[in-house]
Amino acid sequence: MGDEAVQSTNDDASQCKRFAVQKGYWKDPYIQYLVRSGDRRAPEINRGYFARVRGIKVLLDQFLEKTKCSCQVVNFGAGFDTLFWKLKDENKLPDIIVDFDFRAVTSRKCQYVKVRPPLLDQVKAVSGSEAVQIENAELHSPKYHIMWADLRNTSQIESKLRGIDNFDFSKPTVFITECVLVYLQPDKSSELIKWAAESFANSVFINYEQVHMSDKFGQVMVSNLRGRRCELEGIAPCQDLDTQKLRFVSNGFDDAVALEMGEVYRYLPADEVHRVERLEFLDETELLNQLLQHYCLCWAWKDKDQIVTEAVIAL
Ligand SMILES: C[S@@+](CC[C@H](N)C(=O)[O-])C[C@H]1O[C@@H](n2cnc3c(N)ncnc32)[C@H](O)[C@@H]1O
Repeated sequence: MGDEAVQSTNDDASQCKRFAVQKGYWKDPYIQYLVRSGDRRAPEINRGYFARVRGIKVLLDQFLEKTKCSCQVVNFGAGFDTLFWKLKDENKLPDIIVDFDFRAVTSRKCQYVKVRPPLLDQVKAVSGSEAVQIENAELHSPKYHIMWADLRNTSQIESKLRGIDNFDFSKPTVFITECVLVYLQPDKSSELIKWAAESFANSVFINYEQVHMSDKFGQVMVSNLRGRRCELEGIAPCQDLDTQKLRFVSNGFDDAVALEMGEVYRYLPADEVHRVERLEFLDETELLNQLLQHYCLCWAWKDKDQIVTEAVIAL
């Protein structure tokens, strides 16, 4: 799968998110400024996105709470994720958030931020008197950075992070890969994970992506994607929950937990689940269950100073 096709997966993910937001699955007043309204999505897809977005947020919130926001978030393959704006509205901004993606993607995101006041004003609001710089397809401000890099090139990532004045490799740091590693060859995703483990002594790596890809339903998912010229190069570690955990533990993380999304769904706040289940009629719960079984949330940690484990050990 070429880099352009990989980049276009961001358009699909952000359109699905925008559609689910419009339907009322969760609140995100910012996504409308980054992506146009797309086609209608099936209720199962909307519920799947709800579980994905809420599952990651529940873990991240625990980490932010335990570290009292004295931490950093690095979002690899962030696409048009609106995490910075959501955390700002919730008064939960960490010391620094860095979004990484291909230049073609960061260029568009930066351009939208530059020309859309609802996005830019929020970045300015936390920048004090320091200017927000948007140039060369990157955004730099004291708390929020959008930067381009190829995730297959860890020295590029490292040098970009070292270029941020107050970025601190010894501070508790959360890495997020939301539907991203599956697009990297397994040796390249391993390299990225290993670099993160070796460079940060106190960190959590949150990964959301496909699992059980070799069973019947998984094979159908893979061949449907292939039919849309979307070859998942990083499918090998998506075999089962153990292979998902192993990729972190064998590359330097202390330990890891992996849960199917069906299980994550059951841990989500009951009142919210009850509310979203009444938004749209679902006549095929079997399909939803199959979908939820074929995605997982895996989180791994390195905890030299005993700061992070407690924050993420359980959902
Ligand atoms: C399916 S999208 C997910 C976007 C976002 N994480 C979300 O869940 O809404 C995958 C993203 O990973 C990015 N990506 C994949 N491989 C990459 C690489 N080698 N370097 C930089 N970005 C990459 C793509 O450009 C795309 O934005």
